[in-house]
Amino acid sequence: MTTARDLSPLQPDADWWRQAAVYQIYPRSFADGNGDGIGDLRGIISRVPYLEQLAIGAVWLSPFYPSALADGGYDVDDYRDVDPKIGTLEEFDEMVAALHGAGIRLIVDVVPNHSSDRHVWFQEALASPKGSNARARYIFRDGRGENGELPPADWTSIFGGPAWTRVPDGQWYLHSFATEQPDFNWKHPEVHEDFLRTLAFWSDRGVDGFRIDVAHGLSKDLDEVLPSKAELQAMPKDGTHPLWDRDDVHEIYAEWRQLFNQYDPPRIAVAEAWVETPERRARYASPEGLGQAFNFDLMEADFEASHFRDIVTDNLAQSAVTGSSTTWVFSNHDGVRHATRYGLAPRAGRPVKQGAAWVLAGGPEDQIDRELGLRRARAATLFELALPGSAYLYQGEELGLHEVAEIPDAQRQDPAFWRTTADDRGFDGLGRDGCRVPLPWTREGESFGFGDGGAHLPQPAWFADVAVEVQDGVAGSTLEMYREALRLRAQLQGAETLQWDERLCTGDVLAFERPGGWLNVTNFGADAVALPTGDVLLASAELGAATDGAPTLPGATTVWLRRTS
Ligand code: GLC
Ligand code: CA
Repeated sequence: MTTARDLSPLQPDADWWRQAAVYQIYPRSFADGNGDGIGDLRGIISRVPYLEQLAIGAVWLSPFYPSALADGGYDVDDYRDVDPKIGTLEEFDEMVAALHGAGIRLIVDVVPNHSSDRHVWFQEALASPKGSNARARYIFRDGRGENGELPPADWTSIFGGPAWTRVPDGQWYLHSFATEQPDFNWKHPEVHEDFLRTLAFWSDRGVDGFRIDVAHGLSKDLDEVLPSKAELQAMPKDGTHPLWDRDDVHEIYAEWRQLFNQYDPPRIAVAEAWVETPERRARYASPEGLGQAFNFDLMEADFEASHFRDIVTDNLAQSAVTGSSTTWVFSNHDGVRHATRYGLAPRAGRPVKQGAAWVLAGGPEDQIDRELGLRRARAATLFELALPGSAYLYQGEELGLHEVAEIPDAQRQDPAFWRTTADDRGFDGLGRDGCRVPLPWTREGESFGFGDGGAHLPQPAWFADVAVEVQDGVAGSTLEMYREALRLRAQLQGAETLQWDERLCTGDVLAFERPGGWLNVTNFGADAVALPTGDVLLASAELGAATDGAPTLPGATTVWLRRTS
């Protein structure tokens, strides 16, 4: 296989991903090129200069495939095409060329646990009889009860509500997520073949890698008699669970790895795997498999020094075992934005789980301490960007965006919102729409410069204060801090190691040094501490001064220093 379409001026580098800063684009909400209210590839192409100026190494593009958007595109109708609402294959090629021309690589999302119910295979399954090959590509079962009127098991979907839906001839199919997302049967060889085709299709088009959705869910082992929900919950997730994180899922990724390695440089993959322990996560990062896995620990941690230190230490130890590099994430399209998480009132020592934040805080925007949240988010981000490994950033965090909490129910899109009640929101308090609102580019104008035709989710008035235009070129703005940090990081990033500076690590302060004398000091507390000596490279907030005039590092602030010996 060749990469004929790859017009990349990028140097071939098999290790490019190891310490890359990867920027996630949620395409429907990034930039709208044709004014229909939905972000698209034209919009992305028009913003490549913005991405270039941000000094990121790669873009991860969330699903852009044909979809009815029952789950924001994670319900895929056709894995080898572009949604006409978003663009065309020709525009996709143009986008790859533009990104590569700007020195930015591209990772695309692959959704192999389930298709949409509009996929040709699922339509064929519906039109085919019980026991047919078409049905065997998905997970169909007869119901229980006298006439099969009860679902095969009492399982609930991850978005809430039942995990089984009945079809007209009386059988039921499994969907771990929304009704419109039937789970594939990965015991079927055609499912394997088809995904290999998909991975080759995009690799041949010059894509540099893949983000694997629900990577821990593909392999399932279901007997004729199914366990109950309670029985499932009691089973250990040690590789033998019928549904999640089964050891044999890695046989699939070993197949994929063979394909990835036929390319030069090999295509990379990063697993979205929600598993029990860092040890189990490491399996997904194996070089014989996907090669890298998301670590969501920082998304679930309070802004607290000892928490952060433990997470960093554990994850660096794990990556040393697999030989992969570590990943860091504060925000993505599934969680409450970190500026907001850090601005919610403390909850008696309970870390803010992603999403659970709203349940605990009660929701309305006036409960957020916006200033403190943003200040901490900026400090946390500089801390993250100084760590070894790759940092995955989510569109809008470079503007310091807060979650948009006040979206009228009727305009919400997330199936996790619609499939649950206020008392029973397992996945997320208000659902995930609040981090998916189209970005503000300008202070004024139609949809704050997102496009000429409105925005598919309502934008709040306060977007005017945080738009790109407002922050561009303004010293100290969050956007300029990200730009400067990413530019410096690209220069400073050396070997994948860090050394804790035990002299400086006291109570609320964490300090570590990277090779070359790059020192990161973060003050997680409220009170200022003495600023260590060194040349200041960048700080997340203004530095202070003690009464004797000596410089200080204020609370909730990170500074990067170059050590002077
Ligand atoms: C992953 C995605 C999420 C999606 C789900 C089902 O968790 O990140 O957005 O809803 O999978 O595909
Ligand atoms: Ca559009």
